[in-house]
Amino acid sequence: MTDRRESCPGGWDAGLSTGVRVLDEQHQALFACLNDLEKAATQQAMLATFHAMEQLSRYIRDHFSAEERLMKMYGYPWLAEHMQEHRSFSDKLFELRKDYLDHDISADLIDFLRDWLERHVAQTDMDYVPYLHGEAAQRECACAPGAEAGARTLCLLER
Ligand SMILES: [Fe+2]
Ligand SMILES: [Fe+2]
Repeated sequence: MTDRRESCPGGWDAGLSTGVRVLDEQHQALFACLNDLEKAATQQAMLATFHAMEQLSRYIRDHFSAEERLMKMYGYPWLAEHMQEHRSFSDKLFELRKDYLDHDISADLIDFLRDWLERHVAQTDMDYVPYLHGEAAQRECACAPGAEAGARTLCLLER
């Protein structure tokens, strides 16, 4: 996924940081993509709207997959509930992608997507943050055996 931190991470701020660089970059890219979608839909630019919608779907799929992989790796106890939220949103997005071919993308729809993303990152994602960092600090890292705990945490979570 392209690093889009410098473009327009609207909706993301440091308060939403997970402390895991790759996940933060993905969250920022998702918000930036939503901004692109909003801009294209407002301008009624069909091709750009199509592109932004496809990109958002791809970014969502890649991000959910990365997050779930990390939670599995660390034995996160609320993985099933977290995955259920991801699945519900993915299903909703799939429906919306089908619908928007017949209708314009409304401001309400953009608001719904942005609200869901903000709430999910601020609440559901934040629940795993202390758990993942705590687990990582306890584990040995194959790529830096013997490294002190802080370095191990970073190393494991940055994979
Ligand atoms: Fe996330
Ligand atoms: Fe998530």
